[in-house]
Amino acid sequence: MSELSVNNLLGIKYLNTDDLKLIFKTADNFKEVINRKIKKVPSLRDVTIANLFFENSTRTKLSFELAQKRLSADVVNFSSSGSSISKGETLIDTVNNILSMKVDMIVMRHPSPGASVFLSKNVDSCIINAGDGTHEHPTQALLDAYSLQEKIGDLENKNILIVGDIMHSRVALSNIFAYQKLGANVTVCGPKSLIPNDISSLNVKVETDFKKALNNSDAVNMLRIQNERMSETYFPSIREYVKQYGLTKNILDSLDKEIIVMHPGPINRGVEITSEVADSEQAIILDQVENGVAIRMAVMYLLASKLK
Ligand code: CP
Repeated sequence: MSELSVNNLLGIKYLNTDDLKLIFKTADNFKEVINRKIKKVPSLRDVTIANLFFENSTRTKLSFELAQKRLSADVVNFSSSGSSISKGETLIDTVNNILSMKVDMIVMRHPSPGASVFLSKNVDSCIINAGDGTHEHPTQALLDAYSLQEKIGDLENKNILIVGDIMHSRVALSNIFAYQKLGANVTVCGPKSLIPNDISSLNVKVETDFKKALNNSDAVNMLRIQNERMSETYFPSIREYVKQYGLTKNILDSLDKEIIVMHPGPINRGVEITSEVADSEQAIILDQVENGVAIRMAVMYLLASKLK
């Protein structure tokens, strides 16, 4: 297969296994490029991309922009603060105005779940979802799976654990879809109040005993508590959460085998993960960030080849 089955990247849900493998194969080539002395190729020289960020970001925003520059695309950046959104302009009007300046592709982060799907149905452009509220964060899941595969090989039948605020995490949902499409088994772990009631419909296992869950895993993805998406409290105190679900070196050392530790960032050191673990040899957190550029180059390159 040489092209994606989709014209937009709205979520991992909409991709098939061949799409994931094609993105990874393409990312292998771009990873080689960005490790050269001259880290740039002319692949998207005639393509203009707008990055629309309606929500804060460090990794995703910089990673997309670097990926675009490495591919020689023209780039414009929009953030909602300081824009005419505050004067009442709608999302569709905003994007149509940007597109009328001959922009070919939109990368959007938005706090509302479904914002990218909504946009794709209402404007004539290629849309890449850079995280939409509690819904999906497809490029994060792609870079997570790619980084893990690089470390432990084929993910078929591997056991992946996702820990923490599953309820409010777009990373959790995209990770579940990606790992399952690659043949892995997914378990989620955390306080019952932070695990959606309908999670079993996704064919994932639920485990509330953190140590037991870790012992049955090849890799663990530690998630941040998404306080910004909570309007009520979901557990008695941070201290109690840390005691039950915080990943420490002592816990890792007490396991039957060495497992890979992942985190999408931003990290809350001392909450879901200690500094000792985050900075340890077992953690591949900065490898994930590094691979994010190659993965995003691959996604934009493959989608650009489908532009009308
Ligand atoms: N992982 C992630 O999406 O980080 P940012 O919010 O900094 O982009």
